[in-house]
Amino acid sequence: MGIVGAGFVGPHHVDAVRRLGYVDVVAVATSSEASAREKAQQLGAQKAYGSYDALLADPDIHVVHVATPNYLHYQVTSAALAKGKHVVSDKPLAMSAAEAKKLVDELKRSGLVGAVTFNYRGNPLVQQARHMVARGAIGTPTFLHGHYLQDWLLHETDYSWRLEPDKGGASSALGDIGSHWCDLAQHISGLRITHVLGDITTVIRQRKKPRGAREAFQAATDATSESVDIRVEDLASVMLKFDNGAKGSFSVGQVCAGHKNDLTLEVCGSTSSLRWRQEHQNELWIGHRERANEILQKDPSLLDVEVRRYAHLPGGHQEAWADAFCNLMRDIYGFIASGAKPAAAHPPAFATFEDGYRANCIVEAIMESAKQGGIWTLVRY
Ligand SMILES: NC(=O)c1ccc[n+]([C@@H]2O[C@H](COP(=O)([O-])OP(=O)(O)OC[C@H]3O[C@@H](n4cnc5c(N)ncnc54)[C@H](O)[C@@H]3O)[C@@H](O)[C@H]2O)c1
Repeated sequence: MGIVGAGFVGPHHVDAVRRLGYVDVVAVATSSEASAREKAQQLGAQKAYGSYDALLADPDIHVVHVATPNYLHYQVTSAALAKGKHVVSDKPLAMSAAEAKKLVDELKRSGLVGAVTFNYRGNPLVQQARHMVARGAIGTPTFLHGHYLQDWLLHETDYSWRLEPDKGGASSALGDIGSHWCDLAQHISGLRITHVLGDITTVIRQRKKPRGAREAFQAATDATSESVDIRVEDLASVMLKFDNGAKGSFSVGQVCAGHKNDLTLEVCGSTSSLRWRQEHQNELWIGHRERANEILQKDPSLLDVEVRRYAHLPGGHQEAWADAFCNLMRDIYGFIASGAKPAAAHPPAFATFEDGYRANCIVEAIMESAKQGGIWTLVRY
């Protein structure tokens, strides 16, 4: 594999594929030769490239991972497919639904494999929840609700390329983390979001932008900064309709003190409910009316047989974010290595380009709804 972009999330891609045991990390490309060399050395990659074109020309690379800021996703992925490489793109698949649709079509024509890292799918209890919904353990889903809250943009001195529409896209919080929530809600429930009603807010309207580049989650140490106006949302609330008639709602925010990576999703069904929280990801809450509620702890021996392969340690041995990320890579690389036709059924943790495209469509519909003053808006897939 070769990876383009090695800031916050890129090294986790590398770590996850290494754990599979049969993937070589051939090269790293970043925005300059100097930084690529430094990253390649840190990550133990064989080669460093100062541009993604150079990496894509390397015949030793069969799978390209895209972990750059969002505005580069389309061009890197499109160029990689043209060179005959499979692609694992971090989310979002592209900056807009139109670009994402082009990638879906380009991938189809290429006969290659494409995946999007909606990584929460890789958690064993997420797969357990999904399987329980599918086998009718909670009856018919009627209400899906939750939130995805963080606090890393709480202060006016917090800054990221995600706040610049030309680098991150027209939406910030919704595109960045709302897309994860929507993918997860659809993945667990097996339903599709059909209509949305959105309300978006920019809580911090002016921020101090550091003059030098800074990777995600790096502390603001640079005293030299400029004041910039922020035009994208850092807080949003959304109501949802699903294709089986179920309703839903979720909020996203990156200015919510105390919430670090608080993705919470609850599915209420006609007989029982399920709730999964990323920050307590080894527990699944199961709610009942006629008997006591339960907490299922992650323990392979207690999971449905079909999802046990997503848990690798016995009960009481906590598994976490990086393990779920690795499960994703296990599904993706297993699919590639098996030589399966791209149209074949995909293993559950593997989000396809179609899934990525759908997330782009939902975020765009929410933005459109909010722009119209918060009216119900059809999601056009
Ligand atoms: N799945 C997840 O949970 C998750 C988590 C974080 C980020 N992400 C996604 O991953 C992507 C990267 O986010 P991040 O937080 O790692 O960003 P980051 O800013 O920390 O890192 C970006 C990297 O891209 C490189 N880069 C910038 N311009 C480049 C160019 N022209 N050519 C090659 N490389 C270039 C930078 O050098 C840096 O290494 C984003 O699309 C983001 O949405 C996903």
